[in-house]
Amino acid sequence: GPTPHGTALDFTAIAPVDAMADEFTVPEGFTWHPVIRWGDPLFDDAPDFDWEAQTAEAQKLQFGYNNDYTEIQEIPDSDGTRAVMFVNHEYTNEAIMFPPDTGEDELIDIGMAAHGLTVVELERENAQQPYTYVKGAALNRRILLDTPFAVTGPAAGSDLLVTVDDPTGAEVLGTLGNCAGGLTPWGTLLSGEENFHGYFNAPGASEAETRYGLRSGATARGWELEHPRFDAHNEGYENEPNRFGYIVEIDPWDPSSTPRKHTSLGRLKHEGANVILAEDGRAVAYSGDDEVFDYLYKFVSRDPCVEGDRAHNMTLLEHGDLYVAKFSGNSPAAEIDGSGTVPSDGAFDGTGEWLPLVVDGESAVEGFTLEEVLVHTRLAADAVGPTKMDRCEDVEPSLQSRHVYVACTNNSGRGTEGKAPADEMNPRAENRDGHVIEIDEQGDQTSSTFAWNLLLVCGDPAQGDQTYFSGFPADQVSPISCPDNLAFDSVGNLWISTDGAPSGIGYNDGLFRVTLEGAARGRVEQFLSVPRDGETCGPIVRDQDRTAFVAVQHPGEDGTYEEQFSCFPDYDGKGPRPAVVQVLPTSEEPEHPFTDMGP
Ligand code: FEO
Ligand code: CA
Ligand code: CA
Ligand code: CA
Repeated sequence: GPTPHGTALDFTAIAPVDAMADEFTVPEGFTWHPVIRWGDPLFDDAPDFDWEAQTAEAQKLQFGYNNDYTEIQEIPDSDGTRAVMFVNHEYTNEAIMFPPDTGEDELIDIGMAAHGLTVVELERENAQQPYTYVKGAALNRRILLDTPFAVTGPAAGSDLLVTVDDPTGAEVLGTLGNCAGGLTPWGTLLSGEENFHGYFNAPGASEAETRYGLRSGATARGWELEHPRFDAHNEGYENEPNRFGYIVEIDPWDPSSTPRKHTSLGRLKHEGANVILAEDGRAVAYSGDDEVFDYLYKFVSRDPCVEGDRAHNMTLLEHGDLYVAKFSGNSPAAEIDGSGTVPSDGAFDGTGEWLPLVVDGESAVEGFTLEEVLVHTRLAADAVGPTKMDRCEDVEPSLQSRHVYVACTNNSGRGTEGKAPADEMNPRAENRDGHVIEIDEQGDQTSSTFAWNLLLVCGDPAQGDQTYFSGFPADQVSPISCPDNLAFDSVGNLWISTDGAPSGIGYNDGLFRVTLEGAARGRVEQFLSVPRDGETCGPIVRDQDRTAFVAVQHPGEDGTYEEQFSCFPDYDGKGPRPAVVQVLPTSEEPEHPFTDMGP
C-alpha cells in the first residue's frame, strides 16, 4: 500500500531510549554505519588514529572532533556513486580525548587542530550501499585555526577588526564554535560561529564585551597561553574577539578557495544560516542567535541570484539588508502563560515585523554606525526592541512550502524573577523542552511583516508534560525535547534533531520526523536515537534512497579518559569517537546465495 506521507522512507517509530544507554538505535529493518570518525585520516600522508599517541601534526590531517553541521552533495556525472561532504567541528572534549599524562602544550595544539572544518569525498557502489569516505581524494580539505578567511561586507577593514597581526582588518585566521549551517542555492556551505566567547580571555569591561559573554580570566582550554591573540588584554589584540561570531561561507568544490566571513549578516552567536531565494531572486538568509532571550535575524541580499553565474552568486551574502524579528501574539497572556495549552482562539499564533538594522547599505539604528551595527549587532538589536526568544537554534525555510521553521531549544529562565515572562510565541515559563515556530512570509520572502504560529510545544505527554502538536493527538507521538537542527525530506516533512533531551524528558537525543501537511500535521515519529551524552546533529534525509545521515556530537562527554561513558561507534572497549553515521535499510540476504557467485 501507499507509504505514509507519500515518502519512500517508511518506518515504524522507535521507542525512546533511556538516557544511560550507550547505543545507537534505528527502526526495525534499518542498520547504521559510521561514514567517518574523529581521527580518520583524510590525506595520503595522514597517519591512522592512535588513542595513545595522538599528535597535532596527525590531527591536522585527520577528521576533527565534535562534528555538528553536515551536508552531502552528489558529484555530477558520478551516477550517484560519489559525493562531497562538508562537516564542521564545533569544539573539543579534552578530558575524554587524551590520556591524563598528555602535556598541556600538546593538549592545546591537538585541540586546536581538532577544531575547524572538513571537506571529504564519499563513494558507494550504488544507492543501496552505504557511503565510505575516500582517503586522499581531490576535494579533501581541512580548514584549521591558521587558515586565512577573507572578511567581506561593510565591516571588512573596519577599525573594530584591526589587530597587530592584521592591520587590514580584513583577514582572520580560522573559525570557532561552528554549530549549524546551510547549503546555498549556488552549492556553497554556510556555517555559524556560535560560542566563540569561551576561547578568549578578554577584559570584559565594555558593554559590547559583556553583551557577548566575553570576560576576564583563564579560558578552559588555555589557548591564550600559547597564542597571544586569544588574550584580548594584550596590546594589539583588543579586537581579536570581534573577528569571530560571523556566518562563514566555504566552497567545497574548490580546495584552494579562500573561505569567507560575511559581516553583512551581523555578529552574534550565530547558530547557523539557511538561504532561500525570494520571489524576485534575492537571497534571503535566516539566522538565530542561540542564547537565552536573544533574537531571530533575517538578511536580504542587495542583488538577485543569477542562474548559471556562480561567481556573481558567491557575492550575494556580501551586500544586503539586515533585520531582527519582533513577534506579536493575538491571545491574552493569561490564557497562554506557562501552560502549553491552546489559547482560546485555537492556536498559538499572530503576526510579526522584521525591524530594520541595515537598510540600503546604511545603518537603520540611531546612534550606531553601519560598522557598529554589523560588529556589535546584539547592541544594535537591543536598541530597536525585538522579541526575546527561547534560544533560536536552527532556522530553516522549506523550499516546498516556503514556510520558515525556528527551533527554540529551551530556556529555563523564561518567566523567572526579573526575566521576560512567557508570551504567545515563547509560551512556557521555565521552558525545559523547547518549541518550534512556523513563519509564513505570505508570498514575499523579503517582506517586512509575517504571520506565525507554533508547530510544536515539545515534551513527553506520557509524563504529564504540557505539550502541543498542532492538534495531533498527544498520545500518538514520540516524546521530543530540545529541538536543535532542522532538515526536510523530498516530500516536505520536517526532520528535527535534538540536543538536551536526557536532562529534560530523560531519554537520549535523536532524530524525529514531523508531518507538516494534512490531517497528520504535528505527528512526531522518532527515527533514531544516539548514544549516551550524545547530541544529534546535521541531519540529512535522502528519503528517495531510504537513507538518512546524522552527526553524533559529544558522545560520552561526561566521562573521563579512564572511565569512558561511551564506546561509540566502534564498541571496542575504548572511548567514543564523534562520527557521521548513515542509516539505511538492512540489506536482504540473497535468497539463493550461489546466484551471487561471480565467474
Ligand atoms: Fe551549538 Fe546552538 O548549538
Ligand atoms: Ca493566538
Ligand atoms: Ca546546535
Ligand atoms: Ca544545542
